[in-house]
Amino acid sequence: MNPTLNRRSFLGNTTLLGAGLAASSVFAVNTPGTSKKIKVALIGCGGRGYGALDNFLEACKILGVEAEVVATGDAFKGHAEGAGKRHGVPAERCFGGYDAYQKVIATPCEYVVMATPPAFRPVHLAAAVEAGKHCFIEKPVAVDPAGVRSMIATGEKAAAKGLGIVAGTQRRHQVTYLRNKAMIDAGAIGQIKGGVVQWNGTVPWVKRRNDGESDASYITRNWVNFTELSGDHIVEQHVHNLDVAVWYLGRPPVAAVGFGGRARRETGNMFDFFSVDYDFGDDIHIHSQCRQLSGAHQHVGEMFIGSEGSCYGGGKVNGKKVEIADIKSDSGDPYVQEHVDLIRSVMAGKPLNEAKQVAESTLVAIMGRISAYTGEFVRWDDLLKNTQSPVYNLACTPSALDFEKGPIKLPAEVPAVPGKA
Ligand SMILES: NC(=O)c1ccc[n+]([C@@H]2O[C@H](COP(=O)([O-])OP(=O)(O)OC[C@H]3O[C@@H](n4cnc5c(N)ncnc54)[C@H](O)[C@@H]3O)[C@@H](O)[C@H]2O)c1
Repeated sequence: MNPTLNRRSFLGNTTLLGAGLAASSVFAVNTPGTSKKIKVALIGCGGRGYGALDNFLEACKILGVEAEVVATGDAFKGHAEGAGKRHGVPAERCFGGYDAYQKVIATPCEYVVMATPPAFRPVHLAAAVEAGKHCFIEKPVAVDPAGVRSMIATGEKAAAKGLGIVAGTQRRHQVTYLRNKAMIDAGAIGQIKGGVVQWNGTVPWVKRRNDGESDASYITRNWVNFTELSGDHIVEQHVHNLDVAVWYLGRPPVAAVGFGGRARRETGNMFDFFSVDYDFGDDIHIHSQCRQLSGAHQHVGEMFIGSEGSCYGGGKVNGKKVEIADIKSDSGDPYVQEHVDLIRSVMAGKPLNEAKQVAESTLVAIMGRISAYTGEFVRWDDLLKNTQSPVYNLACTPSALDFEKGPIKLPAEVPAVPGKA
């Protein structure tokens, strides 16, 4: 993506560093430090868990508050201990097992950073909110419609309790995207009429089954190849780009028709590629494309065509000259900024709550997957409102609670057959 703004675009006095992000501009720019240490805990100590916790601690530095990592939890105790050691967490507060989240939440942490595979997020967030914790939740936040509805309900509960929830859809905390959204809202490209969103990349990793390994251990290590834990890559990765479409258009789609298939995947039961037409109503369609195939063309981004111009997600805007408010970032890094925005909002007594928005974007991706797997036309209301719809109660198994209860059975390592699924 070309990150430069077209000359016809006009931005007044915009800088990247030094002050509060517009999304949280209601909060003091230089939030006063506090003598109290923020206590944070991590659930899901893998690649992103390590990164997100570092980002949280960096955000605390920016805000001038001290922070302490008080607990870690992971399905594998060794992962929890590894992350704990890095941050000086006592061994007795590094918890292992599928119920580790409960033990983490029972510690005196005020914030919980969640970075397990997405299938576990609805149960973990519900428990954390019940216990009164502010949460950073990695995207996506569910793998099936029931999980999404649970997230929305938990988000409402968090709002009632005055708790903050920020999601790892970092483009919503990235200056270039925030500027383009403001420019679109100010009429720079007229009304969005259509567009294309893409995540065309490769399989993140393949983990082979070890001799004698349990089903639970194998699927947990190889989760990026199983729909039941990841939601498939249209949910797990492409949610970022679908989220931008929903955000820029200001509403979710009304229906989806998609297709996909599998050519080369070596393990698990996911598709290699998806192509989905999302109908946003009013004759507005967004084409979504995603694939995980090494050796093929790769591109990640978004493009929107308006009645009076066009816009690349966080890049070039071709359109009318418009004036927008100054949009700044404390860190210039959206992965850090999302934590700055969360903590600052909580400190200001006006907690951000992104549960519904990330749940809806997750559902958009799930809607595309269901259409591609089944070959059916899928309506938004079939997933959220129409309890008689065959897809309303669709639930992936084994579920998060199945993992806690005992041995699980590995789903068949075959993909869905459209028209027959
Ligand atoms: N925002 C982003 O740009 C971004 C980037 C990468 C990953 N992610 C998201 O972060 C999440 C984690 O991804 P990752 O790449 O770190 O994966 P990972 O496999 O590296 O880490 C996941 C960790 O969670 C642990 N885990 C699995 N099930 C658990 C359970 N029930 N309870 C506790 N721990 C459990 C695993 O053992 C592992 O240590 C995913 O939702 C992913 O989509 C977001």
